[in-house]
Amino acid sequence: TDYWVVVPAAGVGKRMGADRPKQYLPLLGRPLLSLTLRNILSWPGLAGVVVALSKDDEFFPHLKEASHPLMHTVIGGAERADSVLSALEFLAQREHGDTPVLVHDAARPCVAMEDISALLHSQVAQTALLARQASDTVKRGSEISGVQCVEQTLDRKQIWLAQTPQRAPLALLRSCLSQALQQGEAVTDEASALEIFGHSPQLVEGRSDNIKVTHPTDIVMAETILRLRYAPTED
Ligand code: CTP
Ligand code: MG
Repeated sequence: TDYWVVVPAAGVGKRMGADRPKQYLPLLGRPLLSLTLRNILSWPGLAGVVVALSKDDEFFPHLKEASHPLMHTVIGGAERADSVLSALEFLAQREHGDTPVLVHDAARPCVAMEDISALLHSQVAQTALLARQASDTVKRGSEISGVQCVEQTLDRKQIWLAQTPQRAPLALLRSCLSQALQQGEAVTDEASALEIFGHSPQLVEGRSDNIKVTHPTDIVMAETILRLRYAPTED
């Protein structure tokens, strides 16, 4: 079945500390958001894309992908979850509640096609997300004498780091997100909104190079990942 992709792109990129929101910084000579959208537009079965933009956004219309027939925009909100909800409300006006929706960060230009296929075909649970099992040993810290000290070592096999896309049916995701926000819950990804209401999204192991461009060094990392991926092989 066809699916929609929602792209929250209304953030300010505080940790990047650049002169503009990070989604508009150049990567390999093209704005980050442009690369992410170009990637998404290559996914088979795509019905459309809804990009949530800041109300002050002045860059989006200049992107090459802005005029693509499958591209739609909405105004985002104060938090990521508000931006996603705004896109879901737009979708609810025109699509059936069962429509699969993939929410994907504007700041993740490197997600690979094989991971998208894995996520789309993971049909054991009604909802799913790409994630990585922790490779470092994970400690829980707490403050002792004013510094962080180890309180406990967690079982690494049980620790997963959430990525995007995250997949859920339109109506389910919309109702869980809006109720979670109304209850004042901290919702940093779609899965956390679903979990509050008893759902257990399937963890689909993704590649480690699906990084979220967050800090200045991530720009160089993402450029390297993309260059290696698309470089023609020598022989
Ligand atoms: N996002 C959004 N609306 C917000 C906040 C974030 O649509 N109110 C989007 C960002 O544009 C990004 C994604 O959510 O594509 C993931 O958020 P994050 O990486 O935290 O981006 P920023 O919030 O922009 O960065 P920072 O937290 O450093 O300010
Ligand atoms: Mg943020």
